[in-house]
Amino acid sequence: MKVIKRRDFLGLSTGATAAFFLSQCGKIALTNRPGSALAQAQTYRSEGGVLRVDLEAIPQSVPLGGQSTNLLTYNGLVPGPRLEASPGDTVQIHFTNRLNQPTNLHYHGLHIPPTGTGDNVFLAIPPGESHTYEFQIPIDHSAGTFWYHPHYHGLTAEQLFGGLAGLFIVRGDLDEIPEIKAAPEAFLVLKDFGRDRRGNIPNPGHMAQMTGRIGDLLSVNGQINPTLPISPRGLLRLRVLNASSSRFFRLSLEGHPFELIATDGGAIAAPITVPAAVLAPGERVELLVQGNQSPGSYRLLNHPFNPAQGMMGHGGMMGGPGQAQNQGRAEAIATLTYGGTVDEMPMPSQLIPVEPLPEPQTVRQFTLSHGHGGVFMINGQTFDHQRVDTQVTLNTVEDWEIINRGMMTHPFHIHVNKFQVISRNNQPVADAAWKDVVSLSPGERVRIRIPFRDYPGKTVYHCHVLDHEDRGMMGVLDIQPV
Ligand code: C2O
Ligand code: CU
Ligand code: CU
Repeated sequence: MKVIKRRDFLGLSTGATAAFFLSQCGKIALTNRPGSALAQAQTYRSEGGVLRVDLEAIPQSVPLGGQSTNLLTYNGLVPGPRLEASPGDTVQIHFTNRLNQPTNLHYHGLHIPPTGTGDNVFLAIPPGESHTYEFQIPIDHSAGTFWYHPHYHGLTAEQLFGGLAGLFIVRGDLDEIPEIKAAPEAFLVLKDFGRDRRGNIPNPGHMAQMTGRIGDLLSVNGQINPTLPISPRGLLRLRVLNASSSRFFRLSLEGHPFELIATDGGAIAAPITVPAAVLAPGERVELLVQGNQSPGSYRLLNHPFNPAQGMMGHGGMMGGPGQAQNQGRAEAIATLTYGGTVDEMPMPSQLIPVEPLPEPQTVRQFTLSHGHGGVFMINGQTFDHQRVDTQVTLNTVEDWEIINRGMMTHPFHIHVNKFQVISRNNQPVADAAWKDVVSLSPGERVRIRIPFRDYPGKTVYHCHVLDHEDRGMMGVLDIQPV
């Protein structure tokens, strides 16, 4: 049996596909001149084992590419403040809703209780009201790049598209590896925006029924094509989040391959060299870049991605429902610039082993499909928060086989517990990594292995193209105590 190369499994294109892909794009448009230096969000860190933050969701006019734009913000910022904690810390987030519609908070990727004041997405916080989230990051939580965003069913896509999202970093063992500790970090929150002449977010057009809402302003930390410094002979650690409602990113950096060090759920066992990285909505990667080129400017490019073809095809000429994301040319979303001096910084050779999972006790199937009138389904049903779709037992391991019978790529996401991808289209996946989002191109079949640990209660799984989720592609998972 043919073993899938690890980079396919990790959602990263192989050299051959990247080369094909780049040649398809031919001339690369130089639309954006490099702008100001990449800004880093206001950061709140835990002190004495407690992270205490006041967070307010509030509409605000924000300058975006030099033009004021009416967005939805956390504390007036896009992206929202970065939160940083360590395993064992207590988190207290005093949240106030200043929007004119209900909202709530979801802690994407964190392994915390889905109930009470934890990662409770069934909660509705009405306009003008507050809620204090309080939970503990378990002592054995992995270090990684996680995030928070609204999760009120029916309004999730709209609220994320408006700008509501922020990073939640858990610092731990990965950050203590000497080579990694020495590398400067850059946090890149990727997000597309739409804007009409008055600076408002336009209503999603008809196309958005299939693709989800897509904007043509590509921002990194709310900036258009910022610059990113690297030192010759140095290393740069990129922590990348795709916080878009529906847009996929396919990234490459001129003259520099990426060294992948972490996926959604944290570190992999050893760095893997990849020419490009694909991020579905909700996905994260951590990448090291080596400053081993001659000083100059190198563009971080986003290449077209057609969600109607997904990873199976890279053509840009077909049109179809993916057209909005697929103008057939790459665009610079940031620019790497050389400067400063450092002593030679070596690459780490080992990272953190990925724990092998035991054989599953149960195997289930989940079929993703579309219905008439822009309805999206899992196992033939649209979301109903009062129905339990899947009941599992705490402290068991299950395999879920997900089958995409739709016409679009669907990134499948599960809350609270992370998983490993076991096979894709019946071919075993070679290298283990922790994920919480896995993308399926039309026609694909993926098997994931999930340990349900520590926390009983109800939560959800869904497609992370958030218009699909809002239109029904979500199910209720009930984790039953033993
Ligand atoms: Cu980032 Cu349920 O989602
Ligand atoms: Cu999530
Ligand atoms: Cu979907």
